[in-house]
Amino acid sequence: MKKQVRKAVIPAAGLGTRFLPATKALAKEMLPIVDKPTIQFIVEEALASGIEDILVVTGKSKRSIEDHFDSNFELEHNLKEKGKTELLKLVDESTGIRLHFIRQSHPRGLGDAVLQAKAFVGNEPFVVLLGDDLMDINGTNHPLTKQLIEDYEATHASTIAVMPVPHEEVSSYGVIAPQGEGVNGLYSVDTFVEKPKPEDAPSDLAIIGRYLLTPEIFAILENQKPGAGNEIQLTDAIDTLNKTQRVFAREFKGNRYDVGDKFGYMKTSIEYGLNHPQTKDDLKNYIIQLGKDLDSKTKKAD
Ligand code: G1P
Repeated sequence: MKKQVRKAVIPAAGLGTRFLPATKALAKEMLPIVDKPTIQFIVEEALASGIEDILVVTGKSKRSIEDHFDSNFELEHNLKEKGKTELLKLVDESTGIRLHFIRQSHPRGLGDAVLQAKAFVGNEPFVVLLGDDLMDINGTNHPLTKQLIEDYEATHASTIAVMPVPHEEVSSYGVIAPQGEGVNGLYSVDTFVEKPKPEDAPSDLAIIGRYLLTPEIFAILENQKPGAGNEIQLTDAIDTLNKTQRVFAREFKGNRYDVGDKFGYMKTSIEYGLNHPQTKDDLKNYIIQLGKDLDSKTKKAD
């Protein structure tokens, strides 16, 4: 019987080593894009997709995530007294959400992080949203997560979001071997492979951090042996699931922002800054001027 998709899992237990030393005491999910922590974009995408309950799988140095989504009486009182209603509204946006937290005490990989959600999810289909991938500028018009839920409503099957990436980058991703061309962006899949070498990759369609999974994934994860990087890989469990029930891949056609590494994070900050009402004009002028300065420096050097 088809069940409604109401629950989301956000794995946020990673050590954030790519952003050290910033992430020594601060959760990488709290690094802001202009003025909003990356995890808030993820939570907003889940809510805009109709999700009611969200479990965040956290680890060490992640308390700031819980604080962020909690109310802050002192701050709210202070803003109210000063009549700063606009700021108060922004602070309010991150509270009153049905968020739950669980700790993954030993980070053993993404598959193990998702396994921590077993009791929370129960016997329902659910979505997983990875914090390193932001989809579209505000993720609200037709979020990718909502698309996956609609796919599930049509097929009753697990569906994993993918998109083409440059061939030399496939080894940073889970990659699918699609069966044929796909129908309206929905593919049947032969195999799911985690971080293949470019020469071994079955395609350039990479898994991009949004998953709709049926609860049968948990029994597989419980027995999953470590794979790539000696970690329990979600992709390996999905490959096994695909052998007993259909798992589809949905090609995402929108913009994806990879905030998981330094350059991706900087590019995202600039693009979001160019859309933010308080920064867009100044930033645009600054970039134009910077381009001119760099141009004349290169000319002088030639
Ligand atoms: C994880 C997944 C990988 C996926 C990627 C998307 O890898 O294991 O299959 O393609 O997220 O961002 P990670 O980036 O955590 O190494």
